[in-house]
Amino acid sequence: MGIEISTIRYLLISVCVTVLLYLLTISISFLHKVWWKPIHIQNLLASQGIKGPPYKFLYGNTQEMFKMVKETMTKPMENYLQSHDIFPQVKPHRHSWINIYGKNFLSWRGPEPLLCVTEPELIKEILNNKDGVYLKPETKGHVKMILGNGLSMINGEKWVQRRKLANHAFYAESLKGVVPAMITAVEVMLEKWKDHEGKEIDVYEEFRILTSEVISRTAFGSSYLEGKNMFEMLTDLVKLGSTASSNSFFKIRLPFFEKEEMMKNRELSDGYGRDYLSLLLNANKDADELKRISIQDMVDECKTMYFAGHETTASLLTWTCLLLAIHTDWQDKARKEVIGLMGEKSQILDEKCIAKLKIVNMIINESLRLYPPVLGSPRTIDRQVRLGKFTLPSDMNVGFSIIAVHHDPKICGEDVHKFKPDRFSGGTVKATNNNPMAFIPFGYGPRTCVGFQLRNDREQDCSGDDFTKILLYSFACICSLPS
Ligand code: HEM
Repeated sequence: MGIEISTIRYLLISVCVTVLLYLLTISISFLHKVWWKPIHIQNLLASQGIKGPPYKFLYGNTQEMFKMVKETMTKPMENYLQSHDIFPQVKPHRHSWINIYGKNFLSWRGPEPLLCVTEPELIKEILNNKDGVYLKPETKGHVKMILGNGLSMINGEKWVQRRKLANHAFYAESLKGVVPAMITAVEVMLEKWKDHEGKEIDVYEEFRILTSEVISRTAFGSSYLEGKNMFEMLTDLVKLGSTASSNSFFKIRLPFFEKEEMMKNRELSDGYGRDYLSLLLNANKDADELKRISIQDMVDECKTMYFAGHETTASLLTWTCLLLAIHTDWQDKARKEVIGLMGEKSQILDEKCIAKLKIVNMIINESLRLYPPVLGSPRTIDRQVRLGKFTLPSDMNVGFSIIAVHHDPKICGEDVHKFKPDRFSGGTVKATNNNPMAFIPFGYGPRTCVGFQLRNDREQDCSGDDFTKILLYSFACICSLPS
């Protein structure tokens, strides 16, 4: 009996010691993550001159960030007819931290460090890096569920392969055939508007439908009406995702893609054609196992194209409309230019015509500068890296802020918040005071927007690119409406 008690005692002590050691290891690694590492990174960057709001245990700067956002959201923007100074309104925390800590500052999302970069040269270094140092961070939560492993989320060889397909599908030559369909889509919308004369129109909603239609035709050779159900589902998905009600989130299905009907229908029709869906289907049948993509990959790619292209384009058209409604002198100039080139008939609008739409192009650029649909994008580094004169440790997030560079008075001048399309009369270089990296609405480098592809590797300039052309087609029709 004596032996048994001492064995039990021995066992109990062993279990307790193991549990204690386990808890101690977890606590140490937890403290390392939420205390030691943040303090270490903060000191390391401070020694190189990069400052920022101090790290607060566990929360980082999230509480003050939410407080600032909440405060500005409750107040309407003042003087918005004269000034388009939206940066402090949209990203108050970033605006305030740049003023206090300088152009590149370190902030904290919980214990995760984020270096925000707003110096054009450093942004160029990040976006133009071809060594795979700056990676797209792993997506989590609802974003992962919505986009899965689509093009905008993946890295490495997989990305190279998929990007080739997307480049091919969105290249100008491949898009030529869909231009008449785009014009028709715009005309259908305008016809509908005629019934609303004297009444209010929710232009954002209208442009959402229009851009959905255009992307459906461009990428998938189908029409918006065919995929209407899917669009409604996608919109619901985003709403649910943003309210993070994950229970109902899982119940949402994307019937159009999930049932693979669109893909099967396409297989039944002869040949796959040249649009994006066709290229994906071909890749799904690729004899080379390494190049073959799965049905799930195809679903993720389709969702990505809709998400990446749909809201961004609708947002650009909406803000441009608002700007023209405020600045009627530019509305008149645009209309005069469009009617001067093509008369009242948009169907005769062709590539040559579009290249001549200088004023419309300047207006679109100025709208993209003041109201960039994409405000910025994060990258992550998994090894130590040199950025300009700084040495950044591994396991950091680095973000570039498009809205900050577009609204920087040191680059665009004191009239930076004014709507002045003529600043683009001499191209991007002149508009940015010899700083073309200060105008990057479509990003830059290898991961530049798929809807905005440059030909012949020439210097980035928003005139003459493929996607802007599509917008011009649509927009020119809108401008030609009688006032
Ligand atoms: C005004 C309209 C648009 C704007 C302002 C815009 C802006 C951008 C920006 C800034 C990026 C780069 C993000 C980064 O570097 O992380 C990007 C990437 C992307 N865009 Fe767009 N976009 C627009 C329209 C479109 C359209 C119409 C499509 C396709 C139908 C599209 C598809 C994509 C895709 C797939 C990517 C990811 C590219 C990659 O990671 O390789 N975008 N877009």
